[in-house]
Amino acid sequence: MTLDRLGRPLHDLRISVTDRCNFRCTYCMPKEIFGRDFEFMRREELLSFEEIERVAAAFVRAGVQKLRLTGGEPLLRKGIEDLIGLLGRIEGVEDLTLTTNGSLLARKAPALKAAGLDRVTVSLDSMDDTVFMAMNDVGFPVQNVLDGIEAAASVGLTPVKVNMVVKRGVNETSVVDMARHFRGTGHIVRFIEYMDVGSTNGWRLDDVVSGKEIVASINRTFPLEPIDPNYLGEVAQRYRYLDGEGEIGVITSVTQPFCGDCSRARISAEGKLYTCLFATHGTDFRQLLRGGATDAELDAAIASVWSRRDDRYSEIRTSQTVEIGRKVEMSYIGG
Ligand code: GTP
Ligand code: 5AD
Ligand code: SF4
Ligand code: SF4
Repeated sequence: MTLDRLGRPLHDLRISVTDRCNFRCTYCMPKEIFGRDFEFMRREELLSFEEIERVAAAFVRAGVQKLRLTGGEPLLRKGIEDLIGLLGRIEGVEDLTLTTNGSLLARKAPALKAAGLDRVTVSLDSMDDTVFMAMNDVGFPVQNVLDGIEAAASVGLTPVKVNMVVKRGVNETSVVDMARHFRGTGHIVRFIEYMDVGSTNGWRLDDVVSGKEIVASINRTFPLEPIDPNYLGEVAQRYRYLDGEGEIGVITSVTQPFCGDCSRARISAEGKLYTCLFATHGTDFRQLLRGGATDAELDAAIASVWSRRDDRYSEIRTSQTVEIGRKVEMSYIGG
C-alpha cells in the first residue's frame, strides 16, 4: 500500500461527474461568477462512464474502499444510474455513495437504489424557506428536499446524512430547528463550518460558526455527548442525544482541522486528480486514459502522485485564507 509523505494511506475517492448545478448556493457558486456567461465543461471534456470505471478500479487496486459521487450536482449527469451499476461491480468497493442537493432525489431514489448505490448525503442549509431560498439563490423550497430525503430513506439508501453549511448571520438560527426536525428520524445531520474553498466565495473567518458553538447551542435544548468515530479519519465528529433520539456530526475543518488522517483523493469531471480539497494543481488522468495507458501505467501514476503528497491546507490556514495560488472551485472538485 502506498503511503503519502505524511504517512497517510489512500482510502477514499471522491468522483465529480459534472461541474454543473441547478442551485447557486452563495457559498459555493455565487451568481456573479457562475452566471449566464460562465463556461462549464463541454460533454467531450467529461470522462465517460467507462473511463470513470477504469480510473475507479485503479484506485481500488491502490487501496480505495469508499467511492463517493459528487458534482456540481451529480444527479444532473445523464444516466448516472448506469455509472453506479458499473462502479458497484468493482471488487473491493465497500461503500458507494453520493452527495446531492436533493432536488432530483424524490424522482431518482428508486433507480439509484436499484443500480446498487448504498446511501446518500443530502445538503440542506435551513428548515426555513426564506433562509434556504436565499442560500440556494434559485428559490428552491425546503419541502422538495425533504421529499427527496424521505424517498431515499424509504428505498433504503440509509443512513441518510443531511449536510448543513453554517454561515454566521445567514442561517445560524436554523441550527436548533434542523436538529429538532431530524431527531428521531434515523437521519444524521452534520453541521459544517463554512470553508474558504475555491477563490470566489469571499470567505472571512468572521463568517464561520465554530463546531464548538454549534454543539453548545444544540446541547442547551437537546443534551448531547460525544461518541467515538466510526473509522480513523472520519471527517465528522459525532455526538449523540442523551435521550436516545439519534446522533449528529460537526465538521470542523476550520477550527479543528483533520488533515492528519486525511485519506481522500478527488477526481474532477474532466479527469484531473487532486490530493486536497484546496489544491491548485491536478494531475491529468484523462490524457493517460485516452492515450492508451495500460492498467499498470495507471497504477504507477496513482502511486507516484500519492507518494509525493504532502497536503495539509486546513492545518496551515490561519485566520486568513492562505494565498497559495488559484484554488479549484468546490463545484469543480466536489467538496
Ligand atoms: P461520510 O462518508 O458520510 O462520513 O461523508 P463525508 O463527510 O466524507 O462527505 P460529504 O460529502 O458529506 O462531506 C461533508 C463536508 O466535509 C463537505 O463540506 C466537504 O467538503 C467536507 N470535507 C470532506 N472531505 C474533506 C476533506 O478532506 N477536507 C476538508 N477540509 N473538508 C472535507
Ligand atoms: N464550506 C463548507 N461546505 C461547503 N459545501 C459547499 N461549499 C462549502 C463551503 N464553502 C458543502 C455542500 C455539500 C458538501 C459536499 O460541501 O453543502 O453538502
Ligand atoms: Fe450546487 Fe452543492 Fe454547490 Fe450548492 S453547494 S451550488 S447544491 S454544488
Ligand atoms: Fe485533506 Fe486537504 Fe482537507 Fe486537509 S485540507 S483534510 S489535506 S483535503
